[in-house]
Amino acid sequence: MDSSVARIALKRTLFAAAALTLVAMFSPLHAQESTYSSGKEAYDKLCGYCHKHEVGVGRSIQGRGLPAAFIIAIARNGLNAMPAFPESHIDDKSLELLTEYVNTLPAAPPPKPKGATP
Ligand code: HEC
Repeated sequence: MDSSVARIALKRTLFAAAALTLVAMFSPLHAQESTYSSGKEAYDKLCGYCHKHEVGVGRSIQGRGLPAAFIIAIARNGLNAMPAFPESHIDDKSLELLTEYVNTLPAAPPPKPKGATP
């Protein structure tokens, strides 16, 4: 085998190795690892600082029986002032656990009427 053929063969091997590494890095298997250990952890860390009753930046999403598909669609795409949460922020599995978790929480208490005496 002359040296130019050997060089081409080596280049091909390196290219294949690099390609395999890239495939491994972005494979769905890798993405399936849960970002969070529970729905509660994901909600507390990602959504709670806007959506918890005591914060009230986003309307309460707790205990309203919101369908999982609705919560997931909004989390993935964002909605007006709410940012989107791509898979690099929260994986599918954790997001699914989160949708189950928020529906186990009690609904927000009704708002106090304005001007009411404390
Ligand atoms: C930076 C603050 C912020 C964070 C963090 C946030 N949201 Fe929101 N969210 C909002 C705001 C503001 C709205 C209302 C948007 C509108 O209606 O214009 C909203 C709306 C929603 C709605 C629609 C509620 C309804 O009744 O219409 C859902 C569902 C929702 N968010 C889910 C989530 C989930 C799940 C997460 C965490 C992955 C999350 N949000 C994180 C601010 C936030």
